[in-house]
Amino acid sequence: MTTRAVVRLAVADDAEAVATVRAIVAPYKVMSAAATRHLITVQSPKERFLPLVADREGEIVAWASAGINVWTSQPGQAHLSIYVHPDHRKQGIGSELAERLHQHLTEVGAVRVRSFVQPDGLEFARNLGYDGTRQMHFAGLDLTAHLPEQPETPAGIELVALDSVDPRTAYTADTIASLDEPSDSPLDSVDYDQWLEEVWNSPSVDRSLSVGAMAGEEMAAFTVVETAGDRMWSGMTGTVPAYRGTGLAKLVKSVALRRAAAAGITSAYTSNDDENGPMLAVNNWLGYRRVQTELGLLKTL
Ligand SMILES: CC(C)(COP(=O)(O)OP(=O)(O)OC[C@H]1O[C@@H](n2cnc3c(N)ncnc32)[C@H](O)[C@@H]1OP(=O)(O)O)[C@@H](O)C(=O)NCCC(=O)NCCS
Repeated sequence: MTTRAVVRLAVADDAEAVATVRAIVAPYKVMSAAATRHLITVQSPKERFLPLVADREGEIVAWASAGINVWTSQPGQAHLSIYVHPDHRKQGIGSELAERLHQHLTEVGAVRVRSFVQPDGLEFARNLGYDGTRQMHFAGLDLTAHLPEQPETPAGIELVALDSVDPRTAYTADTIASLDEPSDSPLDSVDYDQWLEEVWNSPSVDRSLSVGAMAGEEMAAFTVVETAGDRMWSGMTGTVPAYRGTGLAKLVKSVALRRAAAAGITSAYTSNDDENGPMLAVNNWLGYRRVQTELGLLKTL
């Protein structure tokens, strides 16, 4: 008989195994071992982040985490996610992880939890009291194939790589654009130092491939490229309101995808809320094809 999996706190040295489990469960998400290590180890104390693994005789068979969303002004908003390796399901591991995480969230004062599940995890989540109708579409693009023609750069706009700009300029554009990203809790309380640590200095972000569109001193639009081997993920694309609808998101993403392809990246992935019409229009135009839809659910504690 196989030994029971033991749930324990995840540590930095689990990063590689956790990244492997994540890649098996959700191959359309892009996260390197270095980025996973960053996720496990670099969190603001206010987030009360709890990373767990299920360990079966030294083999990591599941990963789960939960914490408080500290980037919204709404108090007590939490997030939770669980990845159980397909060969180790239906053995109570997911339920044990969920119980541990909900217990923790209750103790640290969370009032509402958001989770995204694959369609085959819907019943599991509903049985835990999750409900909702939000949809998150994941889409992929083969960068070795043809990309649409790069749009003209409008007069007064200068394209830059993000490694050549002051992070404050990028932070300003990111926090302004993020206010309009569809979500249950507004992203309206992003601390600069924490943004620097978690976003700007994230080991997955390649600032030399990430592109900004500058209008004088102001960043009008930008797109962030994260990489893991020969795959890339679009961390965030945003255009500040005054410049929307002028083709800048299409432009910066076109340029970034070309730079990534030239750097040897062969596939690109991204995710969009079903309600994000403009971003879906940009990605459809670029040629992204849908590979998975996850369901966004909420549970009140
Ligand atoms: C999404 C966003 C980056 C688009 O930036 P933008 O510079 O205005 O984009 P572009 O001008 O390059 O292209 C916008 C496209 O959306 C289309 N569009 C605009 N509003 C739309 C809507 N409500 N429904 C569908 N399509 C829409 C436009 O017609 C245009 O497509 P077209 O050129 O084929 O006509 C910008 O709206 C934004 O910053 N939003 C908030 C942050 C966000 O949600 N980022 C994405 C996170 S995944």
